[in-house]
Amino acid sequence: MTHFLDIKDFTKPALRKILNEAARRKKVRAHLPKGEADIDQPLKGRAIALIFERPSTRTRFSFEMGVRQLGGEVFTVSGAEMQLGRGETIADTARVVSRYVDGVMIRAAKHETLLEFASAATIPVVNGLTNYTHPCQVLADVQTLEERKGDISKQRIAWIGDGNNVCASWIEAVGVLGGSLKVGCPTELRPRHEVLNWATQHKADVEVLVSAEEAVAHADCVITDAWVSMHNDDVASRHNLLKPYQVNEALMLHAAKEAMFMHCLPAHRNEEVTNGVFDGAHSAVFDEAENRVHAQKAILLSCFGK
Ligand code: CP
Ligand code: NVA
Repeated sequence: MTHFLDIKDFTKPALRKILNEAARRKKVRAHLPKGEADIDQPLKGRAIALIFERPSTRTRFSFEMGVRQLGGEVFTVSGAEMQLGRGETIADTARVVSRYVDGVMIRAAKHETLLEFASAATIPVVNGLTNYTHPCQVLADVQTLEERKGDISKQRIAWIGDGNNVCASWIEAVGVLGGSLKVGCPTELRPRHEVLNWATQHKADVEVLVSAEEAVAHADCVITDAWVSMHNDDVASRHNLLKPYQVNEALMLHAAKEAMFMHCLPAHRNEEVTNGVFDGAHSAVFDEAENRVHAQKAILLSCFGK
């Protein structure tokens, strides 16, 4: 049994195996209706629970469809509907849920909740986003990047805006899989010390800059995210700090010719990204959303040793 908690927990060959399986399954079922199961149905007879302490569109739909395509049963519950937060400990909840289902994806408000749940669970646990990281998103994004540009290890990637949870998983992805990442962010919103220290220890090619233009210079791929994440409440100050970090047509001129644009979504059009870039010819945002299904199917299979 393996959990999928963070990208940094995996070796390069293990992540490459997941990415290859995601690409293979995507290709095999390219012309199948979305509701039709994959021919091999490797999760037949297994039940997966999806627990959400925060709202979700993509993570919920993509996991539900992914598990069904693998032949498994899936059901979704919100944290608020459970006894979590009414005094039952997270560890006891994990022990109980482990008696009912074969695997859990949890979107936890706090990263500590995910870790506590995973350490008590006796079934695979997948991180469906916390305040610190979003590894399923970034594996789908790496799949999307490689579909358009080839091996990540040869790519110059720019992250612009908040040094948030998705940015942290990108730092880990570059640290394990290779590639160069320049983060352009205000000093106040740099990625967490822990993830930057990890990057230094693992000799990841990651640089944090204050200038968005310098971060984007010659990039093959430019990525941004919402200015205010689900766990943030300092809305006004974030808007002030991040206004100079909007990804717009002028900023994209600093990137390589035909640089692609990515955003995990949901996007706030004309805030962190202009409509022109978001809807432009080099935007891959809806491919990223689709690839959540393919990448997560491969992640689940790796958790079950398949
Ligand atoms: N990108 C992403 O995880 O979207 P949701 O919050 O809609 O799941
Ligand atoms: N950084 C965003 C990602 C949403 C998918 C958030 O945490 O709200």
